[in-house]
Amino acid sequence: MKSKAAVLLEPGKPLEILEVELVPPGPGEVLVRWTASGLCHSDLHVIGGHLPARLPMIMGHEGAGVVEEVGAGVFSVAPGDHVVCSFLPSCGRCRWCASGHSNLCNDGANLLEGCLPNGRFTTALADGTAVGRMCMLGTFSERAVVAEASTVKIDDWLPLDKAALVGCGVTTGFGAAVNTANIRTGDTVVIFGCGGLGINAVQGAVHAGARYIFVIDPEPRKLQWAIEFGATHAFSSFEQAQPVITEVTWGEGADKAIVLAGEADATITGQAFALTGKRGEIVLVSMGASDAMSVTLPGTALSLYEKSVKGCLFGSANPRHEIPRLLRMYDAGQYKLDELVTSTYTLDEINRGYEDMQNGLNLRGLLVLNAG
Ligand SMILES: NC(=O)c1ccc[n+]([C@@H]2O[C@H](COP(=O)([O-])OP(=O)(O)OC[C@H]3O[C@@H](n4cnc5c(N)ncnc54)[C@H](O)[C@@H]3O)[C@@H](O)[C@H]2O)c1
Ligand SMILES: [Zn+2]
Ligand SMILES: [Zn+2]
Repeated sequence: MKSKAAVLLEPGKPLEILEVELVPPGPGEVLVRWTASGLCHSDLHVIGGHLPARLPMIMGHEGAGVVEEVGAGVFSVAPGDHVVCSFLPSCGRCRWCASGHSNLCNDGANLLEGCLPNGRFTTALADGTAVGRMCMLGTFSERAVVAEASTVKIDDWLPLDKAALVGCGVTTGFGAAVNTANIRTGDTVVIFGCGGLGINAVQGAVHAGARYIFVIDPEPRKLQWAIEFGATHAFSSFEQAQPVITEVTWGEGADKAIVLAGEADATITGQAFALTGKRGEIVLVSMGASDAMSVTLPGTALSLYEKSVKGCLFGSANPRHEIPRLLRMYDAGQYKLDELVTSTYTLDEINRGYEDMQNGLNLRGLLVLNAG
């Protein structure tokens, strides 16, 4: 079967829209027709060559769609089902899945290799070259054969375009606040970066009952959105935020700081560390070059104040629990998804979508696919 797809052939180059060839789904595999996909910053790290991936690769990992065909032994979804695909699969059997940490499932090992957990490449270029799929999904395409472990069935009355965002950014940002940072009622929280992830950390902090929610982002548009979504304070720099945090916490500092800026670096993690007080927790969600030393901290202050630094993958969430849960909250009018989408793009416009991200224009850009 043929499918149009946005393919990264070389790092640093724009994505190319090419016709690719798909094999039918094998055992444990599912053919999905994508309806929409969010544009997440992690793709930009691969496109820019900072995160090394096997190329060629079909980009995109925040998608939803309709199941068209299933391979042998697939029981959790059937043709016609609506699915969000989690950017991390959950096999349900490995040590991490079995202990309630399926965001760390061992089947996630091939995310940047782009083949399925069973090692199979299901897509090829016209000349027969095997092409990988970002996070084993490659949502910037009309169709994909993915692992059943990546699919999460959702209620079929939910809008599939907005649901796509829950495949990565919504769940990661919300979960960073609620699960990883474990924000408690009355906490003071600082959120660095208010893009597709950061705005959902704001929503998570509101739901968790934070007293003060500080957002720091250099882009003025983002600060306005932050306030609309429930932040109590929004500043364009650490220097502006610091005296106000000191004042409102009576010198104690913030309880939690979450780093969700586009690029992880030692300056931002240092600022997050400086803004937290005793037993403060710093959560690092941002990524950058795989060899970048993006955490450099004064260890004496870490021990004397009993601070801690935590990594966060996919909001420490179990996809099969958290994705339907967030969508049910949206359905009940308790979670904002519609307001996250600030521009939509066609497949041919995908490179412009990423330029807009770099120019700070979007909370989340959304690729809308209308393949028949
Ligand atoms: N750990 C995970 O599971 C996971 C999952 C998805 C994405 N990510 C990473 O999270 C990060 C954010 O992704 P996104 O899609 O929300 O990106 P985005 O581009 O939508 O948002 C990034 C925001 O950071 C802001 N920013 C830039 N420099 C800043 C600074 N010095 N201080 C504060 N804010 C700053 C930008 O203005 C922008 O609003 C990326 O590094 C991405 O790769 C991690
Ligand atoms: Zn993502
Ligand atoms: Zn597993």
